[in-house]
Order: sequence, then C-alpha cells, then structure tokens
Amino acid sequence: MNSRPFPVHVAIILDGNGRWAQRRGLPRLAGHRAGARALRKNFKIFRQSGIRYLSLFGFSTENWRRSSDEVQGLMRIFLNAAQRNAREILDARARFHWIGSDDGLPAVLVRRLRQLEEKTKGEDDFHLILALNYGGRDEVVRAARKMAESTSSVDFAQWTWENFSRYLDTRHVPDIDLVIRTSGEQRLSNFMLLQMAYAEIFFTPTLWPDFTGETFQLALDFYASRDRRWGGGLISKET
Ligand code: IPE
Ligand code: MG
Repeated sequence: MNSRPFPVHVAIILDGNGRWAQRRGLPRLAGHRAGARALRKNFKIFRQSGIRYLSLFGFSTENWRRSSDEVQGLMRIFLNAAQRNAREILDARARFHWIGSDDGLPAVLVRRLRQLEEKTKGEDDFHLILALNYGGRDEVVRAARKMAESTSSVDFAQWTWENFSRYLDTRHVPDIDLVIRTSGEQRLSNFMLLQMAYAEIFFTPTLWPDFTGETFQLALDFYASRDRRWGGGLISKET
C-alpha cells in the first residue's frame, strides 16, 4: 500500500507582514509584531504535525535596505522573541539552530541565539532552524572561505558537494522537501537555494500574520499530491 508522501523538512518564507498592517491602516512594525504572534500561535501545530525540520526566513541579508526605523524595530522584535519563546522551545524539546551571518546583528541578539542553540543541542526529535541575517549566496561565500581556510593542501578532487556541504550553515540539516511562501509572491528571494534544489514549492495568497493550521494543511495536501523524482525521470513504480 502506498502512503501519502509527507515532508521531513519544511521551509517557510514568511511574507506579507507589511501588507497586513497596511490593510488595517497600521504601521509596518505592527505587522511584524502580528507576524511574531502568528509564529507563536502556529508553533505547536508545526511541532505536532510530524515534520522533523522547520526552517523560517526571519530576516535576509538584503533586508538591511529597509528604513532604519523598520530594521531597528525588527531587531527589537527578534530580541524579544528570542527571550519570550526560549521557554516554549525548551518545553517543546526542540533543537534550535540559527543560520546566517553575525555581521551587523546586535551582539546581544547573537548571544541569545547561540545560548538557545547550546541549551537545546541534546534534542533531535524536532529541529527549528531560524534564518536571521541569512542569504543563500552569502552562505555559499562564507562556506567556500571556511573550506579554503581549513584545507592546507589544495586537492581539488576533494572539492565535492559532500565535502563542501559540511561547511554550509545547514550541515546538520537534511535537504528541504517543501517550501511555503506566503502573501502571493512567487519567488525564492535568496533563501536556502542549494538546500531546496529538489523541493516542491507551495505559494499561498495568505499573508503571514493570517497563517493557520488550515493553510499548513493545504500545503501538506499539495505536497502529498506531488510525484518527486530527483531528476530520475518517470520510473514505473512496483506495486
Ligand atoms: C515579511 O513581511 C517579514 C520580513 C521580511 C521581516 P514583509 O515586511 O516583507 O511584508 P510585505 O511584503 O511588505 O507585505
Ligand atoms: Mg515582503
């Protein structure tokens, strides 16, 4: 009997906080606060859904281009969230990973993220990967530098994908199976590009602050209907 395919690793590009606020005549930061609330509300649903890895795009290396008011407000929200949600992450027995660069992030935020990683490193049932100050291209460049620095004799035959991927921020994390992007935009915005090489992609018009278990279920149903082939072509399945 064939069971319906279920994703191990889901990655979400959280989008639409600004539009959510705009539609209510509120400032953009109110939208980001609503986004943080949506994350808290949905966390249990993700935790209990049966997926093992959840990656979230919180702030990209390109988001620094926003107004300094918005960037500062976002940093405050992240700091708050790191503090407020730590208890819940620990109680949920989730392992926390931060991916991205520390370049430009407030030192106190970096410290909190690292502390949470340290405190949860014994867990393995569920992994929460938070991309903060993350860009796919930035990650590749940082990984290439690390690999070059740690290799004394240069044997280019050793520069395989397997070896290189050990220098990526996601070295402890399997490839992404399902990407969800909210707010109707249909692009990948430099998010975990190598990790989503074979992912299925679900676009929903729902704005992130309005995301619920129902939206998540639609994404899982979409995934269950897909026929993944990893470049292998149409292989006739044994029954
Ligand atoms: C996504 O919402 C949240 C972050 C990037 C931090 P946006 O702020 O991009 O919302 P829109 O696209 O303006 O609606
Ligand atoms: Mg946006």
